[in-house]
Amino acid sequence: MNFAVFASGNGTNLQAIIKALKKGKINANLALVLSDNKEAYALKRAKRAKIKTVVVEAKNFSSREDYDAEIVKILEQEKIDFIVLAGFMRIITSVLINNFRNKILNIHPALLPSFKGTHAIVDAFNYGVKVTGVTVHFVDEKMDHGPIILQGSVKVEEDDTAETLEAKIHKIEHKIYPEAIRLFSEGKIKIEGRKARIA
Ligand code: GAR
Repeated sequence: MNFAVFASGNGTNLQAIIKALKKGKINANLALVLSDNKEAYALKRAKRAKIKTVVVEAKNFSSREDYDAEIVKILEQEKIDFIVLAGFMRIITSVLINNFRNKILNIHPALLPSFKGTHAIVDAFNYGVKVTGVTVHFVDEKMDHGPIILQGSVKVEEDDTAETLEAKIHKIEHKIYPEAIRLFSEGKIKIEGRKARIA
């Protein structure tokens, strides 16, 4: 199976996925890294690993739907079977979701359904939670909402800052995202309503 990683920023999750692929832990082909941000460090990581990259900038499209239609075209050209969102900071529309129903994975840095949105780590930290974590889930029309594939928890210690918490969250992300991709690419995840059952 061919897959694409979408990333807007640093790309540490992309790096963890590349590492897992190199070690033979994921039986799929990372055919494309797509970004909405030409400055994304994720693109450098992809190039270094000799993975094809493409930048699709939002400013060239008049609506989110037009943007997603362009992406669908690219994904079809590249024969992409599934999509991995790794810090892709755009809301995606039904144009993309309908073309890749139950084939888009996302990682969110909190224990969903708590702390949805773009500042989840800081939001959870400021709220004063004692436990937070990471969620890998399928993407549906609602933000941070689809069936949950894997979660990992992180304890918030008294001496944690938002920064140290972020580092702990990333560490868990880099473990569970490659594992979720492995499970998906091996056909081991079955969706039944809200439940993503792992065989
Ligand atoms: C990750 O922590 C990911 O969970 C988060 O962006 C970061 C990207 O880091 N995603 C979201 O907040 C999505 N709502 P990375 O670029 O180093 O992989």
